[in-house]
Amino acid sequence: MTRLAGKTCVVTGGARGIGKAICAAFAAEGGDVVLTDIDRAGGTATAAEIGCRFLPLDVRSEADWTALAAAVPIADVVVNNAGITGFEESPGPHDPEHASLADWRAVHATNLDGTFLGCRFAIGAMKGRRAGAIINISSRSGLVGIPGAAAYASSKAAVRNHTKSVALYCAQQGWQIRCNSIHPAAILTEMWEPMLGDGPDRAERMAAFVADTPLKRFGLPQEVAAIAVMLASDEAGYVTGAEFNIDGGLLAGSAASPG
Ligand SMILES: NC(=O)c1ccc[n+]([C@@H]2O[C@H](COP(=O)([O-])OP(=O)(O)OC[C@H]3O[C@@H](n4cnc5c(N)ncnc54)[C@H](O)[C@@H]3O)[C@@H](O)[C@H]2O)c1
Repeated sequence: MTRLAGKTCVVTGGARGIGKAICAAFAAEGGDVVLTDIDRAGGTATAAEIGCRFLPLDVRSEADWTALAAAVPIADVVVNNAGITGFEESPGPHDPEHASLADWRAVHATNLDGTFLGCRFAIGAMKGRRAGAIINISSRSGLVGIPGAAAYASSKAAVRNHTKSVALYCAQQGWQIRCNSIHPAAILTEMWEPMLGDGPDRAERMAAFVADTPLKRFGLPQEVAAIAVMLASDEAGYVTGAEFNIDGGLLAGSAASPG
């Protein structure tokens, strides 16, 4: 369990969910983890549980990234994980016809601006060593249209594309700085709680959400973290500009697939 030994690993949105699982997996592999989150209380508690450092960071804030760069001038791995669907902040609507410009911008500010600033920070923190791994958490929603969450889908599609620009830019400079994206589908985290509820129909709702998923279940945050460990480690030294689906087989077929 030393695949990340000697590597400084910065993770955004690490207080809970997929980010927390990534921090725990990186620490278990010997990484020196810097867990960051906008949620100070949650981030402090999770970092204490894992046994790693916590630094507050709102991914939308350029000033916060500047402060992080002063505190962590050299990094080997950066995971841009912090993201929102938009429903936490505003009930919507979030469809292309009725969404407000404010709601559209709020989702892009966290998911896209946050990832842009995170990649920029990562390049600055990695170029001294001319090597490193940047991992952007996009979504399967970045690969298909989502009519009821248009800003989320748009922002995650842009994260996928920006990943490839960063990968090519770093390669052009002659650096071994790799940049890849992960595309999870339904992963059971707190993000889903408002949609699942805790009423008697919770199990029914859960089954309905994964009815079209070939593996017929939600994914686990630890299953996403396992891919992040692989991409962060030197085993993935020749992998850059790539995208990894973790979706229970959802995108393997389509409505047009014969039965
Ligand atoms: N859970 C899923 O089914 C799923 C599927 C596809 C993609 N994703 C993506 O995976 C990532 C993590 O999702 P999750 O399910 O763990 O979410 P979550 O809501 O459980 O956790 C998100 C974390 O990000 C933090 N955060 C939110 N805004 C922030 C900001 N501006 N700056 C810093 N931190 C901020 C929150 O405090 C929280 O700790 C997100 O980018 C999400 O879009 C999740």
